[in-house]
Amino acid sequence: MLMLLRWRDVRAAAKDHTHFDSAQRGRVPTPPENDIRQFRQLPIETNPPEHASWKAIVLPFFRRPMTTAVIPEFQRVVRDHLQTVLMGGDIEVVRGFALPVQSAALAVLLDTDRSIAEVWQGWGLHALRRNGKTDPEKAARFLTFIDDMLDRGRSDPDMGIFAALHDADFEGRPLTRDEMRGICHLALSGGRDTVIHAITGTLAHLAAHPDDLARLRTEPSLIPIAVEELFRVLSPLAMIGRVCPQGHSVGSLGVAPDARAGLCWAAANRDPDIFENPEEVRIDRAPNPHVAFGAGTHTCLGAPMARLVLRTLLSEVVQNVAKLTVVAATPRTSPFGTPYLYESLTLRFARMEVP
Ligand code: HEM
Repeated sequence: MLMLLRWRDVRAAAKDHTHFDSAQRGRVPTPPENDIRQFRQLPIETNPPEHASWKAIVLPFFRRPMTTAVIPEFQRVVRDHLQTVLMGGDIEVVRGFALPVQSAALAVLLDTDRSIAEVWQGWGLHALRRNGKTDPEKAARFLTFIDDMLDRGRSDPDMGIFAALHDADFEGRPLTRDEMRGICHLALSGGRDTVIHAITGTLAHLAAHPDDLARLRTEPSLIPIAVEELFRVLSPLAMIGRVCPQGHSVGSLGVAPDARAGLCWAAANRDPDIFENPEEVRIDRAPNPHVAFGAGTHTCLGAPMARLVLRTLLSEVVQNVAKLTVVAATPRTSPFGTPYLYESLTLRFARMEVP
């Protein structure tokens, strides 16, 4: 597999749909999923101009984190979970905090029955993978769940996206069942481990750098800039695939016709030609042209939710947490050198003294 690492190459490939094709069932994710599903994930496994029609169907849901009336519900999810953590002692943050926050926020995003978040928590960090590998049993259970939700949505208008897809229109016709499945498959799995990693990594960074926590406390206006830097450094989706239909070469490296290439967002975000001292976390780095959410047509639709969750988290932590201390950690390694990746991470949250 050809791996594109440089910022310029990754961005160029993301915008070149002729040589780097997304419209390939199951061959965009890594590891590939073409053996576990017979439908395309939508809108990601499409190219322009078809892509625009699929994006239009899901956009009302993905815009909810930018909608004034809904923003407080996302913020409440983060605030309430943090308050619960602050009442206890030590907490394993991957499963005990990041996973429940991600699940509850996703239920708000998809505007579905909020209690379903508890079912999602039971799936663990990934809906269809186990130890980084696609698991056919988990994948089948995931698909059964999607079908059950779509069945409920047919008669219950309060099921949010699972109801709306029955009335949706793709270029003048209703959606097929596989198309509905393809939309749900991505919406439920795409932002899962990424958001969990972003939350965990942010807390781990603040535990390791109390100076940054103190600075954000005195300069809260830096929070949105700090969040972008954390997305750059954490690069929660390290890479994604494309298929090169006619083969392709970049510099002296080539890829055979119909073989895959990897767009390595995590490597591009450490390109020293673009980012000065890329390994350093600078919470005031600006400009910060990171590609953690991709580039071009397929730029992440979940980015507004991820940004809102992280900004709220930082804001709540600086107001309520005096100190974060690592009690125990089981780190994971990344081929791209991404820091703060954990299988589990137990933190002690010291509450701010009330004056
Ligand atoms: C920190 C969290 C996240 C990161 C780092 C991330 C990263 C990315 C990246 C790099 C892409 C581009 C893929 C490509 O070019 O093929 C992408 C696309 C996408 N992401 Fe995210 N993502 C995150 C959260 C989410 C969430 C929470 C959701 C939904 C619940 C989501 C849903 C999507 C969708 C639907 C696309 C496809 C967009 C399209 O094809 O138009 N992501 N994401």
